[in-house]
Amino acid sequence: MCGIVGYIGSQKASPILLAGLTKLEYRGYDSAGIAIIEDGKIDVQKDQGRVSNLYKIKEIENLNGTIGIAHTRWATHGTPSKENAHPQTSNNGDFAVVHNGIIENYVELRKELEEKGYKFFSSTDTEVIPNLIDYFYKNDNKNQKELKFVNAVKNATDKLVGSFAIEVLSKENPDNMIVVRKDSPLVIGKGYGENYIASDIPAILSYTKDFYLLENLEFALLSRDNIRFFDKNLKEFNKKSDTITWNAMAADKNGYEDYMLKEIYEQPTAIRETIGTRVNTGICKFDELNFTKEYLQNLKQIYIVACGTAMHAGLAVKSTIERFSKIRTEVDIASEFRYRDPLIDDKTLCIFISQSGETADTIAALKLSKEKGAKTLAISNVIGSSITREADYSIYTHAGPEIAVASTKAYTSQITLLTLLAIYLGQVLGNVKEQEVSKLVNEMLELPIKVEEVLKTTEKVKKIAKKLYQEKDVFYLGRGVDYTTAEEASLKLKEISYIHSEGYPAGELKHGTIALIEKGVNVIGIMTNKNLVKKTISNMEEIITRGAVTTAVLSESIYKDINTTIFDNLIIVPDTDESLSSIVTIVPLQLLAYYIAKEKGLDVDKPRNLAKSVTVE
Ligand code: M6R
Repeated sequence: MCGIVGYIGSQKASPILLAGLTKLEYRGYDSAGIAIIEDGKIDVQKDQGRVSNLYKIKEIENLNGTIGIAHTRWATHGTPSKENAHPQTSNNGDFAVVHNGIIENYVELRKELEEKGYKFFSSTDTEVIPNLIDYFYKNDNKNQKELKFVNAVKNATDKLVGSFAIEVLSKENPDNMIVVRKDSPLVIGKGYGENYIASDIPAILSYTKDFYLLENLEFALLSRDNIRFFDKNLKEFNKKSDTITWNAMAADKNGYEDYMLKEIYEQPTAIRETIGTRVNTGICKFDELNFTKEYLQNLKQIYIVACGTAMHAGLAVKSTIERFSKIRTEVDIASEFRYRDPLIDDKTLCIFISQSGETADTIAALKLSKEKGAKTLAISNVIGSSITREADYSIYTHAGPEIAVASTKAYTSQITLLTLLAIYLGQVLGNVKEQEVSKLVNEMLELPIKVEEVLKTTEKVKKIAKKLYQEKDVFYLGRGVDYTTAEEASLKLKEISYIHSEGYPAGELKHGTIALIEKGVNVIGIMTNKNLVKKTISNMEEIITRGAVTTAVLSESIYKDINTTIFDNLIIVPDTDESLSSIVTIVPLQLLAYYIAKEKGLDVDKPRNLAKSVTVE
């Protein structure tokens, strides 16, 4: 949930650390800090609030040290404050640590350390770590300094229960830094005579393209020219680096006012790249999956499990998967699924969707499914992310880095990939007619152009946003897949504009919620399905009678077919196959949420109380 950066080399560390933190601010932004080794001591500077506050600290500007660690925080234990900001240090200032994750047994560890004479100055779970390292370091008389350092970090992490990605500086080891992770991401960027650390690749992508993706409980001892890797028993091993193909531009705003807007506009490319070369002469290829017809025929059910927008992507493809595979498919929220003892076994295929691949509840749900004997398939946007390392199989969306907290291009790419997966399942099972597949595949290939067309409605959407931005409540209605779009559109509005909203099944309104509709309440009706449109129009008429102000989102052919004068505002999207309609329909509604938030003068990329990846449950 927080962001980590580290640098060891020959350049002044502080500008590199601050630039990295700025790129990672979407992971957490209630306090930030850095620690740099200079003149034989560790200098820690930190403050409450955003990373920009660190730029105002004179002492940071004057620090010339070439080794340092840094952190931007999203508070879990202890309020956002200077004391609780990272780095946290050992009592004697010999060790400084930044930490992502949660130490579940920190209360017990704190007590143990207090009995040994250590004092605590913050309410964080993290502060136990530098003090534990200090304790083990002081009590090691056998080893020389460098090995003592590695041993102390290992002994300390052996005591930790929970999740962590940790960077450690040691005063007595001014030319080394140690990093280790468990269930929280951390990567090492390899340079020439310098090395970089980050919790997320975009933070250091402008310096290197060669990365080591640390696995759980692997330790790395970094110096300027070398990186030594140790396993959990401190046995040294060689590790292969990976080369990342994104460029730094892709992770930058590239001229857009906000990342969210840039990412909305990147959707045609993200969809195109996600389809990639998977479709060839009507066949959907998933070489990474070796599902046999026999295995699929034996399946009783498919579960799709995820959180937030990723869960909505699951809902959007549920019927497509059922249509092609003829296997009962359920969609569940990861935080519910993991605690309700779901009925799954080796005749269940569990699919986990996570843009970041780091969402704690989704990872826990995946582990549970594995324990119960199900095969697990991860769908992520981040190569090497935790979820993909846990799953039996992984397939990737190719949306490029998604930085804004509100997920946009990941959603449409997930639906794209899952639709291809649905076709693939149908093809392996021999369930699908060639004609049906080629019709849908052709529609998919046209999606990028259709989304580009939708993006041209921006000016119209902006005008609607100007009318809506002062509202207190907005309702989104739809039937079938339009209901899923309603839920996703509502989530977008809530999280970035702080306007209360609900995505509701149009037919369910009169079973209670219609009581909330009175003169002036804004309702957005989504209507893209010819078979259901009449029903939804009746529901819209019921609320128009009660004085609601309405916006209709209509597919082109429906627009031509119905009387649209009853609606106050109209948004028209191109026709497409029903399985794909969420993709074209959500785009103007993402834009609507965006422009409403802009009208309100809000920070679109970093909405209050939220962080990009939710690595705590
Ligand atoms: O990284 P993930 O896809 O696992 O994230 C899941 C949700 O936390 C995420 O989609 C969240 O709902 C977004 N803020 C929605 O815009």
